Amino acid sequence: MHSRDLRQKFLDFFHKRGHAIIPSASLVPENDPSILFTTAGMHPLVPNLLGERHPLGKRLVNVQKCLRTSDIESIGDESHLTFFEMLGYWSLGDYFKKESIHFTFDFYTQVLGFKKDDITVSVFGGSPKAPFDQESYDTWKNEIGIPEERIYKYGEEENWWGLASGIGPCGPDTEMFIDTGQPSCSPDCGPACSCGKFVEIGNNVFMEYLKNADGTIEKLPQKSVDVGLGLERLAMFSQNKTSVFETDLFSGVMEKIKKLVQTKDEITRPSRIIADHIRAAVFAIADGVFPSNTDRGYVVRRLIRRAIRYGHLLGLRGFTVSLGREFIRIMDSIYPELKEKENSILSHLESEERKFGETINRGLGEFEKIVSGVKSRGGEIICGSEAFLLFQSYGFPLEMTMELARENQLTVDQEGFKREFEKHQNLSRTATVGMFKGGLAETSEMTTKYHTATHLLLAALREVLGPEIYQKGSNITAERLRFDFNWSEKLSGEQIKKIEDLVNQKIGENLDVEMTELPREEALKRVKVSFDPAKYGEVVKVYNIGGFSIEVCGGPHVKNTKELGHFKIIKEESVGAGIRRIKAILERSPKS
Ligand code: ALA
Repeated sequence: MHSRDLRQKFLDFFHKRGHAIIPSASLVPENDPSILFTTAGMHPLVPNLLGERHPLGKRLVNVQKCLRTSDIESIGDESHLTFFEMLGYWSLGDYFKKESIHFTFDFYTQVLGFKKDDITVSVFGGSPKAPFDQESYDTWKNEIGIPEERIYKYGEEENWWGLASGIGPCGPDTEMFIDTGQPSCSPDCGPACSCGKFVEIGNNVFMEYLKNADGTIEKLPQKSVDVGLGLERLAMFSQNKTSVFETDLFSGVMEKIKKLVQTKDEITRPSRIIADHIRAAVFAIADGVFPSNTDRGYVVRRLIRRAIRYGHLLGLRGFTVSLGREFIRIMDSIYPELKEKENSILSHLESEERKFGETINRGLGEFEKIVSGVKSRGGEIICGSEAFLLFQSYGFPLEMTMELARENQLTVDQEGFKREFEKHQNLSRTATVGMFKGGLAETSEMTTKYHTATHLLLAALREVLGPEIYQKGSNITAERLRFDFNWSEKLSGEQIKKIEDLVNQKIGENLDVEMTELPREEALKRVKVSFDPAKYGEVVKVYNIGGFSIEVCGGPHVKNTKELGHFKIIKEESVGAGIRRIKAILERSPKS
């Protein structure tokens, strides 16, 4: 069954059984700073699992984009992925264990044609937290007819599910697996074993508990069910393939990689890693996460750079854009945002590959030297400053250095790396604050907002008047911003309105303000500045506001443009030949 039909049949099956279809949320969770990415379909529904009424009722279904890096070491096998689509359905205080087990099983057998004999399950065997899940066990055994020897009982480690933070709704679960028919790896081999004999195809979580921040557990006022089935794995079995990479979701890209490498041989692990990571990056960038050295952006950078490294192992150069384009082609009818953001996706891939492509070989050379150094001193650990050098000068994410180290039977002093990183950040902060002294004297909440508004204003001026506009001067107080720029004529009322509207539009788009620290020369290649570059420290901060504004600046800035309020120009005047000045304020809301 083609993945397109699989998604649709899943939605139809549950819709027919009273579930309202809800759209996939963004990969960037709203209102939840505790997680970087949406890792399961239940994330956006946490308030509803805790008891808040959902406007569409008690039964919901969807297909959710998810990104998890917890399994990154397993990518390259048959079934693990960082980005995947979760087919999810929920009962919010409606039906419970029995009905949901029947629903899941019926979907497998009636819609996908899976055989009961191929299905193995596990149930919660009990722990000090909660008792053995007799009801699920009995349902599988007596109502569905799974023989006892294929119903495994496990503890919390395997059969208890909650958010990664450990806090929030949680409960015992029952998991379903396909037995691939491979021989058992040992007498103890079972679905919890990672040998590959069993592939997990779904998880029904019975959310009847709440874990509090202090570690205590209490019962929730309602019993809910949270079910997640991995689309790619279901596609793999329903298309009779032995890996997710052979399904229609990946095959075009895998073919492309083979062609680029000019081989007919199966090149499994590196090409799977490349395909998985580029696909994840494509979806993350489409949701507004751009490669950078912080938070979400850093995850995307790690994924792209790891893909580039594996590409280099296969002799590939300049390949990420064509693979990204192929993924967009495969998925854009389901996720139109991919087509809408195609230019941004491809240009981020291109720029990341160009930048890293310039340093990777020298970085690998440096790494070799470091390894010989460590080995010649009889050591086993790459120290923090060496790992930091690879990060700082050659763009190697720490995790990449750790992976390379492992390949050479070495480890990395992560704490030492962290210390170097912090030391360096302090140094560059001093340098940048010194550089902008005066202008940054006040760092109150309002001045922070005006700093960000100034960036938006410059970008809007460039858009409305032309790309030749640059900053001649800026002054910010807690009451207003003042901005001077190169232009000789008075701005018309229409131009002023256009500029204001554009700034307010960007504020309304809730754009993240992302900061990256870059070596000065590299930063100056990317952004247009009006200052003497010699004034900058060795490492400068580049602030990127949703791709609309990219500027070198000492900060400070808000995290997201939604914090700014409403932007209004209150004065426009001349302050000398060829220089205009704008004064503008931020209001809580538009005043007429
Ligand atoms: N939320 C459950 C999971 O991610 C279904 O496995």
